[in-house]
Amino acid sequence: NWNMGDFIDDQIAEIRAEVGNQQVLLGLSGGVDSSVVAALLNKAIGDQLTCIFVDHGLLRKNEAAQVMDSLGKGLGVKIIKVDAADRFLGDLAGVTDPEQKRKIIGRDFIEVFNDEARKLHGIDYLAQGTLYTDVVESGTDTAQTIKSHHNVGGLPEDLKFKLIEPLNKLFKDEARDLGERLGLPHDLVWRQPFPGPGLGIRVLGEVTKDKLEIVRDSDWVLRDEIAKAGLQESIWQYFTVLPGFRSVGVMGDGRTYDYTIAIRAITSIDGMTADFARIDWDVLQKISARIVNEVGHVNRVVYDITSKPPATIEWE
Ligand code: XMP
Repeated sequence: NWNMGDFIDDQIAEIRAEVGNQQVLLGLSGGVDSSVVAALLNKAIGDQLTCIFVDHGLLRKNEAAQVMDSLGKGLGVKIIKVDAADRFLGDLAGVTDPEQKRKIIGRDFIEVFNDEARKLHGIDYLAQGTLYTDVVESGTDTAQTIKSHHNVGGLPEDLKFKLIEPLNKLFKDEARDLGERLGLPHDLVWRQPFPGPGLGIRVLGEVTKDKLEIVRDSDWVLRDEIAKAGLQESIWQYFTVLPGFRSVGVMGDGRTYDYTIAIRAITSIDGMTADFARIDWDVLQKISARIVNEVGHVNRVVYDITSKPPATIEWE
């Protein structure tokens, strides 16, 4: 029962009082939370904020560009972008276990960030996009850690910064509302949840460049058709998965032996439980036809009709 306009003014005053004329560092992940923090800090302290955007090469198509455009060009936020795709892919080579992949991606992310942070001088604060729910979830050990989430990181051990977490009293929707009021585009701020390890856990098993491309391109088609059908805000999360097996198909007068793409689209309130979205058959048909036509090495599309539980939202 407080209002967002007052919240913004209060936060800005508080941040200015705390930071004074010192320098703040923020890691951009491409996600909503860190983007909102960037917009807020930019408004409060302008160019005393420096962002490091680690592009791990596991983002969706156009996502990195959208962040650079809206924050960098649009709001004038100072961003150092590190293109680390090769490093992540290299470290993921040969790794098939999902939790192992998460650990590698999480570790690399921190290491790349730290390497970049060490090059900067005179930084006093580290800002993070921690939400109220992140604080609550990581504080309870009763919460099941079926999958390790790496959103909440501590301070890097050798880089001693003071921490600012200006969103840590906000729920997700409040953070989105805040972002929009601060001038971030509606579709960036309201975009569906996306896991930290990104497409790395949507290519099942070993992640390779070719497989990433298949999952990224099919995801792009799916997003496009969901948007055209006007469903992007009624479906909680929607994405494609590359299970990695191949099956027989027919195209022209030849047999094909290519990959299957699975579509996962769910409705949910909080991600804890979920139901598969009842997408219209005609929409699904269009998505399927386009994926097979437009994405190389795919000859079959299936729709995941399991709820959570017993399945999870992601396949890994
Ligand atoms: P599951 O698959 O556990 O997903 O039903 C629940 C929600 O969490 C997201 N998710 C992750 N988010 N790091 C993240 O930041 C992760 O490793 C991770 N794994 C799953 C998932 O996309 C869904 O929104």
